Amino acid sequence: MHLPHIPPYKTKVVEPVYFRTRAERTAKIEEVHYNLFNLHSDWVIVDMMTDSGTGAMSEQQWAEIMLGDESYAGSESYFKLIRSVQHIMGFEFVAPTHQGRAAENILFSAVVKEGDLIPGNAHFDTTKGHIEFRKATAIDCTILEAFDTTIIHPFKGNIDLDKLERVIKEHGREKIPFINITVTCNTVGGQPVSLKNIQETIALAKTYDIPVYMDIARYAENAYFIKTREAAYADWTIQEIVTAMFKDVAVVWMSAKKDGLVNIGGFIALNDAALYEKLSQFTIIYEGFITYGGMSGRAMGALSEGLKEAIELDYLHDRIEQVHYLGAQLKKYGIPIQEPIGGHALYIDARKMLPYVPLDQYPAQVLGVEAYIEGGVRGVEIGTLLADRDPITGLDRIPELELLRLAVPRRVYSLQHMDYVAVTLAKIMERRDNIRTGFNIKKQAAILRHFTVELSKI
Ligand code: F0G
Repeated sequence: MHLPHIPPYKTKVVEPVYFRTRAERTAKIEEVHYNLFNLHSDWVIVDMMTDSGTGAMSEQQWAEIMLGDESYAGSESYFKLIRSVQHIMGFEFVAPTHQGRAAENILFSAVVKEGDLIPGNAHFDTTKGHIEFRKATAIDCTILEAFDTTIIHPFKGNIDLDKLERVIKEHGREKIPFINITVTCNTVGGQPVSLKNIQETIALAKTYDIPVYMDIARYAENAYFIKTREAAYADWTIQEIVTAMFKDVAVVWMSAKKDGLVNIGGFIALNDAALYEKLSQFTIIYEGFITYGGMSGRAMGALSEGLKEAIELDYLHDRIEQVHYLGAQLKKYGIPIQEPIGGHALYIDARKMLPYVPLDQYPAQVLGVEAYIEGGVRGVEIGTLLADRDPITGLDRIPELELLRLAVPRRVYSLQHMDYVAVTLAKIMERRDNIRTGFNIKKQAAILRHFTVELSKI
């Protein structure tokens, strides 16, 4: 008999959960215009809106909070962060930012101009937003397998090298300031990119003299998938894989709210001194002095420790296994999910789960609202609302996938919570024949509309 797997941590501090009735939730969600972002968190029972900034910190991280050096310039907490990034990632210069999109703002202010093209695997929405805000274009070169939720492929985040080369040849190197690889690829389901694909993308980019940048919000989870799915690296340590992933990458930027295991923070890391100097100008304008860039000393200290914990193999094993446990429960109830299961979340195929909701009535949002009403479970729509409108035609962009994402915060919930979430979805599955209408948009913002959109029931 084997001893069962248990998490490599135990609980020291707890946070209350408030239970409301189904009727109370039904009234509340109408009151907030069917926008899950408008709910106060104490109205949510299991919050799977995001794995970003929602993780639980370790006692070592809390110790760093107490040790935080809040000096305006040259704080010791900053140097702890620099040493962690240098040691784990191999980059010399580090520009802290308050979160990932602030890193995008600074980096793209320095390198992206009107008319540019940024090819890569499906760009995250803030990345795309920051590109389009500068009147440049993000070109998705993810492999086609990523857009069929039923195809099993170990690295659905991979870049289609033929498509990438066609884009470069068609538009010319001058229009492409960098190629972007996002690890893991959030937009297509937290799907990893293989080390082989990273190396081949870099080799191709090199022949055209284009640098490769990486959005590394979930790079440790990506490294875990390389170890467990790419045979050549089964015996490598996570650190060895991380080193290989970043070897010829020019610039990385990170939303540290994910694999940094902190509640707020981010950074840009690179070896190019001239570019770092250019970035520093933007850091000072947008974030703060270069030795804190929008983070407090205590947050930088906690991040310096979180970066180390996030590449520990037993942590990563527990983390990914919990996500996969929920996936297995959902599958048991016949719920159609993106497969193979990714690193940080489950993605439910709303078109398949709610086949009677018309495509232009936001089926994934309908599923999100139903999950909230049924069990107080809060997910997030990754579908037509998030895809927003075409900047030229102003019409809704219909994405290839219409998904409800259930993201799993790090070190927060138990397997019992995962069972609860699975049964919530199973109950919706049972009554799906009666779910036949969706939403109209009452009000929407000019950009990144999903955060504030107001909907009415059809
Ligand atoms: N890049 C990726 C791949 C992300 O997933 C995110 C955020 C960002 C950049 C932006 O970072 O939020 O710190 O400003 N993703 C969160 C999510 C919001 O829920 O997936 P940020």
